[in-house]
Amino acid sequence: MSPQQSPAPHSVLAPRPGATHRIHLRAAGVSVVVDVTDGRSPAITHWGAALGTLGGQGLDAVCEAAVDPVVQNAVDVPVRLAILPQAADGWLGRPGLSGSREDGSGWSPRLVTEAITLDGQPLTGPHTESGPGLLRFALVDAELGLEVSLELELLPTGLLRQRAALTNTGATPYLLEELTLTVPVPAHADELLDFAGRWIKERTPQRREFTVGAHLRENRRGRTGADSAHVLHAGPAGFGFRRGEVWGVHTAFSGNHRHLAEQVNTGRRVLGGGELLLPGELRLAAGERYTGPWLFASYGEGLDEVASRFHRHLRARPHHVSTDRPVTLNVWEAVYFDHDLARLKDLADRAAALGVERFVLDDGWFGSRRDDTSGLGDWVVSTEVWPEGLAPLVDHVRGLGMEFGLWFEPEMVNEDSETARAHPEWLMAPSPERLPLRSRSQQVLNLTIPEAYAQVRDQMLAVLGSTEIGYIKWDHNRDLLESATRATGRAAVHEQTAATYRLMDELKAAHPGLEIESCSSGGARVDLGVLEHTDRVWVSDCIDPLDRQQMNRWTAQLIPLELMGSHIASGGSHTTGRLHTLGFRALSALFGHLGIEWDLARATEAELAELREWIALYKEQRELLFTGDLVRADRGDSVLWLHGVVSPQRERALFTLAAVGRSDQSQHDRLRFPGLDPAARYRVRPLLLGEGPTGLSLPPWWRRAAEQDGLVVPGSVLERSGLAAPLINPEQGLLLSLVREDEGTPAAHR
Ligand code: DGJ
Repeated sequence: MSPQQSPAPHSVLAPRPGATHRIHLRAAGVSVVVDVTDGRSPAITHWGAALGTLGGQGLDAVCEAAVDPVVQNAVDVPVRLAILPQAADGWLGRPGLSGSREDGSGWSPRLVTEAITLDGQPLTGPHTESGPGLLRFALVDAELGLEVSLELELLPTGLLRQRAALTNTGATPYLLEELTLTVPVPAHADELLDFAGRWIKERTPQRREFTVGAHLRENRRGRTGADSAHVLHAGPAGFGFRRGEVWGVHTAFSGNHRHLAEQVNTGRRVLGGGELLLPGELRLAAGERYTGPWLFASYGEGLDEVASRFHRHLRARPHHVSTDRPVTLNVWEAVYFDHDLARLKDLADRAAALGVERFVLDDGWFGSRRDDTSGLGDWVVSTEVWPEGLAPLVDHVRGLGMEFGLWFEPEMVNEDSETARAHPEWLMAPSPERLPLRSRSQQVLNLTIPEAYAQVRDQMLAVLGSTEIGYIKWDHNRDLLESATRATGRAAVHEQTAATYRLMDELKAAHPGLEIESCSSGGARVDLGVLEHTDRVWVSDCIDPLDRQQMNRWTAQLIPLELMGSHIASGGSHTTGRLHTLGFRALSALFGHLGIEWDLARATEAELAELREWIALYKEQRELLFTGDLVRADRGDSVLWLHGVVSPQRERALFTLAAVGRSDQSQHDRLRFPGLDPAARYRVRPLLLGEGPTGLSLPPWWRRAAEQDGLVVPGSVLERSGLAAPLINPEQGLLLSLVREDEGTPAAHR
């Protein structure tokens, strides 16, 4: 039978008759069109470039034009691809909602739309045009006893987010297996980019063709993971920072989760994500409700625009951090577990003299914690190493004008601890008789047990209340293997994640102004879920600047620079053994929330003098760094990376040029500076601190700019034609400041 002979699209699905609604949301150059034909489950018929005002006819056109013809040897009606895709609509890819009743029934929902509101108001007619807004759909399968409240919000930044809550309205328990939401992407988005990684090498990019089948990134670590998909993008082959339409999704959750890119054999493609539930983890009794995490979706012309929508959204939150991110010294690589008051006070003196503003005491101050085999879970100051408590150090640090921060790892426990000995039932385990494999000699403390939660909370509050602590470095150093409540054997990662978020919120409520850093063996907990409860992330335990060039570059695909802990360490990297100049270490750390992680007692006077200069430069530039737009130049496979930050009005910019390898050619491609105002003229000034890079050979324009007070160049030339690139040795870098000519000429570093 040819498609023309197929039966008319009716009856087979027998959707409940309902009203047709078509809604167009628009914000910051993005349009989202949602179609609810005949009261069916909502489908996105357009998510991408702005469509302009559509009117009723235009909205009907977008939705009707998106309906595919019927395919032979498939269902007799056009397959409908809903936000919550379902087999009842003919979709044979991954279903959005999976689960069943205990007798095996009720696994194939036919959700229909019963009600729709926009920003809390019912829709007034079949066609709705709006700016940014929150759509809420009440979806129901009355026969199966399921209700889904689906939210779709287009934020003022053009960022889209969706989440769903499922209520069991039936009389018997419903075993939820999965609630995955999707967004459609067009067929010309034929390449995928997401991230892999490991400890000390987080967020390594990986690309592949978007072919038939599922690219499924499942995470069972109970934490976001050093190998998290981070942002899963689709775009036309070869899409770059400034090139190609790009669609990306991020699941905002720190527990088990998934990201998905799927193409079925018709060619239809979706991106999606949601929480990954373990067997039996989510059993909804009658009337109970489960809410999934937000799935964020960002569309843009190139990866920079995708990133900038995330950044602008985060920056617009009322609780977002201020731009004067304090220069932080963290003592981990300086002293490790060697907590000696005199040594730490000396380190604090040296730090304060450089202009450091926050001093953080890392692991080793509590219980029996003299190395990483014991003491976790006992959040009581060790009288062995701190006979007078932490106050002598805290008072000293604060007397120097710095804030004090302290390390905790609240979700963990060593078997060799008072807590584990007193309460073995608080350790997460698949049964009373079994324990999971140890990892870094530790186990997971079950915060879903109210008494365990209360002990950790109260011990933490006691320490926070005993002295002035403004900052917590919140660590989490193992995966959640076989993580269940020991007494029952029931998986508890979902509840543990919720308890962690709750604990963070409780501590913050008790100590207004308290900041929390999300650290997890370095950068294994970087996601927009945890960032609703914390104030920065530790990007990686690898502070080697060459590796950090890559890790910071890609961590910033999701979060802005002020949320990324970025430190200057000693000359020899503790994790890679590579040696780097201070110039390259500092220039690489500058594009982030700057800190020091170095035993300053071992630094030379020359190094300290240069470090002081870098800290001063950071303080001068942090307003720009933390309000401006991140721009990254597309330079093919050039080893000379160029990235920068351009202020919102494009009147100032700071760029860095980093040689991340050795080139096969003796000259580099010209430097073309993205993100500037082509109609303006900019004064370009090289910023040279300390000894500058090795192997430097400068083009004449650079020399002239260095001799005079910069060189004035039209923005169009800088952006489109470019300037000859200098030569520098590998693992060296340079900085350039650009100031629009009519903006005056602030003091430059030379
Ligand atoms: C892992 C973190 O990433 C490090 O910075 C440090 O805090 C150690 N844990 C301490 O155990």
